[in-house]
Amino acid sequence: MSSDFTAHAKAILIGEHAVVYGADALSVPLTSLTLTARVEADPAGPTLNTEGYCGDFDEAPQLFSGIRFLFTELVEKPGRDTRVRLTFDSHIPMARGLGSSAASALATIRALNSYYGLNLSEPEIISLGNRAEDIVHGKASGLDLQTVNSDQLVSFNKESGFTHIPGNLDAWLVIADTGVEGSTKEAVAMVRDQRDSSPLMRHRLDELGTLSRRAKQAWNQKDSLQLGTIFDAAQEILVSFGISTSTIDKLVDVARDAGALGAKLSGSGLGGVVIALANTRELAHNVAQALRPHAHGVWVEQL
Ligand code: PMV
Repeated sequence: MSSDFTAHAKAILIGEHAVVYGADALSVPLTSLTLTARVEADPAGPTLNTEGYCGDFDEAPQLFSGIRFLFTELVEKPGRDTRVRLTFDSHIPMARGLGSSAASALATIRALNSYYGLNLSEPEIISLGNRAEDIVHGKASGLDLQTVNSDQLVSFNKESGFTHIPGNLDAWLVIADTGVEGSTKEAVAMVRDQRDSSPLMRHRLDELGTLSRRAKQAWNQKDSLQLGTIFDAAQEILVSFGISTSTIDKLVDVARDAGALGAKLSGSGLGGVVIALANTRELAHNVAQALRPHAHGVWVEQL
């Protein structure tokens, strides 16, 4: 007997960094980029089987501390047979702001839930996922988990929490991987230092927040041309904080030269991914083709 669950990735459309100071961040599910967790009986278990590690669960690297926590919470209980193997099959690159840890936590919880017939409620699943995320990232906003658990755009701000926004944009998002791990901690500290020492940078962060509000309107009006313009304006501000890199700049330029409606980094910066917008399938295809020789991976998501 085995149980599996497939969870998808996420990308921040807009609002990264500004969200730290109270603005909205918009995060979109990437259903074309997935990770599957499978639980099955294993006489040698409990074991973990991933690309990076294969062996005893208790000796798994620190990276899997959130998954180990879930195992303790859900498996190591009286009366439950712990002789199982947990296998991850992931297409989501790690540390790119694509929500790989949230997706692995969610897929693990749901696969264990079904294998052991635990009947966990949705709030219990979210709460366990958030606790696993906190172990991996320190106190996390929960935006990644909300988005990998949703098929809708998710808006988050510190005051009002999460709002799921129904409906489509009728556009395509092209996601290009720089191949470089982003450092959220470092990037957030860089932005904070500049905000604290410069009124101009403080003003620019406010502008990012305004762009994020306008992006939500553009989404609701299905105005992809406007959203593309907003992407470009946000990228200019993010560049001014020094959190873009030469690879990000290159991918943004290539996407725009190929006709993208707009392009920007997504997530913390200093690596991670670039996102570009297209209003037809053909344009998305052309942008993806242009990006492929320069990127470590390119995916296209219909919005
Ligand atoms: O790269 P990600 O998905 O971890 O996004 C970071 C988003 C920031 O706004 C830069 C940080 C944060 O905690 O919101």
